[in-house]
Amino acid sequence: MPSKYLISPSILSADFAELGAQISQAEEAGADWIHIDVMDGHYVPNLTMGPFIVETCARITDLPLDVHLMIEKPESLLEAFAQAGASTLTVHIETCPHIHRTIQIIHQLSCKAGITLNPGTPASAIAPALPFVDLVLVMTVNPGYSGQSFIPEVVPKIAQIRKMLDEVNPQTMIEVDGGITSQTLPAVLEAGAQVFVAASAIFKHPLGIKAGIKKLQASTPNFVKT
Ligand code: DX5
Ligand code: ZN
Repeated sequence: MPSKYLISPSILSADFAELGAQISQAEEAGADWIHIDVMDGHYVPNLTMGPFIVETCARITDLPLDVHLMIEKPESLLEAFAQAGASTLTVHIETCPHIHRTIQIIHQLSCKAGITLNPGTPASAIAPALPFVDLVLVMTVNPGYSGQSFIPEVVPKIAQIRKMLDEVNPQTMIEVDGGITSQTLPAVLEAGAQVFVAASAIFKHPLGIKAGIKKLQASTPNFVKT
């Protein structure tokens, strides 16, 4: 299992009037990736960003763009997101009846392939895909909005998936997303997560973006920045 920890700020809570400056501040403060939450108003109730925003982010930063696709039929938009500059395309198992084909298409587009699952979806649902993915995103809220409360019952599933990955694909990292704060980060890190997505804890931190990132990194002595 890799022993490095990464922060992936979710721009869902950024001030879009200042998007360029906010992403640059996150980068200067030590962000490793930029997390972009794509929602279609069908799979999840909210409607957010498309390839245009990914392309905008690619012009702002050289950090890897971590694109989380909360959309029905993601296959139809994979090429557009890849061309826009996505580094990783993460799809929900709940939206992908032909998951091996979907992963294959993502790799053919020269992107890393991520798979994710909702809090109510068991780890066994992603088992057939684990040998082929570059990232596993474990949702710790039901997707759709930032600022929701962390669901602690998901923590054992992180450990379960880490164990499954160690058997078939040990280099693949686990990312967590939803309600990640300085209070919740230590438990998910201990369970085996290595990439921490946060929107509110970073972009809504009262002392600013840098303070938000530093607070997450300082939340446990076990957080070792690469
Ligand atoms: C939730 C999104 C998350 C969200 C996280 O549907 O996938 O990435 O932006 O927001 P916080 O960190 O505020 O829970
Ligand atoms: Zn997300």
